Amino acid sequence: MRKIKLETKRLILTEWGTTEEEIKFLKKNLNDKNITKTLFNPPYPYTKEDAIDFLNTREDAKKGGYYSFKIIRKEDDKIIGNISLNAKRNPTTGGAGYYIEKESWGQGFATEALAEIIKFAFKKLKLHKVFAHHYKLNPASGRVMQKCNMEVEGVLKEHVYKNGIYHDDIYYGILNKKER
Ligand SMILES: CC(C)(COP(=O)(O)OP(=O)(O)OC[C@H]1O[C@@H](n2cnc3c(N)ncnc32)[C@H](O)[C@@H]1OP(=O)(O)O)[C@@H](O)C(=O)NCCC(=O)NCCS
Repeated sequence: MRKIKLETKRLILTEWGTTEEEIKFLKKNLNDKNITKTLFNPPYPYTKEDAIDFLNTREDAKKGGYYSFKIIRKEDDKIIGNISLNAKRNPTTGGAGYYIEKESWGQGFATEALAEIIKFAFKKLKLHKVFAHHYKLNPASGRVMQKCNMEVEGVLKEHVYKNGIYHDDIYYGILNKKER
């Protein structure tokens, strides 16, 4: 199946393949506690087999409505992150999730990638809504959502137990206004 490729000023977002570079990126970053401590899903520690399994299941996941993109910085052609859009449970609503390698934080890359994914969700997939959520102790991610014009919809109190803490889970959403 042809890979979807999205482009912003500084980034290329394209679906994952199965290269050594990709396996290395996943293994390095999903074993970095700076990143994993505020993520919801991946196993920890994250093995090479976990990375291979993730990459090998992307095509099937996409058929079910779950899109995963590597984030490539154009300047040096380097993978710097991952962003996903999951419309598996509800085909009109996509849940977005993302991370950026620690060395590249604070330069607006997550915001640039999320804004593009929202555009993709509304223009290409014709979704009605995009949502995202973050732990209360991860305000940087909330800021990314705000900068993409998402609004707080609610807080699920002490909803997720991770690393010995019950985390408040803050939900943001944005509606596809052009649809109506
Ligand atoms: C959250 C994350 C994706 C942000 O990536 P990034 O590329 O640094 O994000 P951006 O540069 O686009 O924006 C970050 C914003 O958060 C702000 N910020 C950073 N730390 C903050 C803090 N402790 N409190 C409040 N705001 C903070 C930055 O100042 C910036 O806002 P600004 O442009 O108004 O100054 C990145 O830190 C990450 O990968 N974290 C680990 C994984 C993760 O938490 N993913 C999200 C799960 S919900």
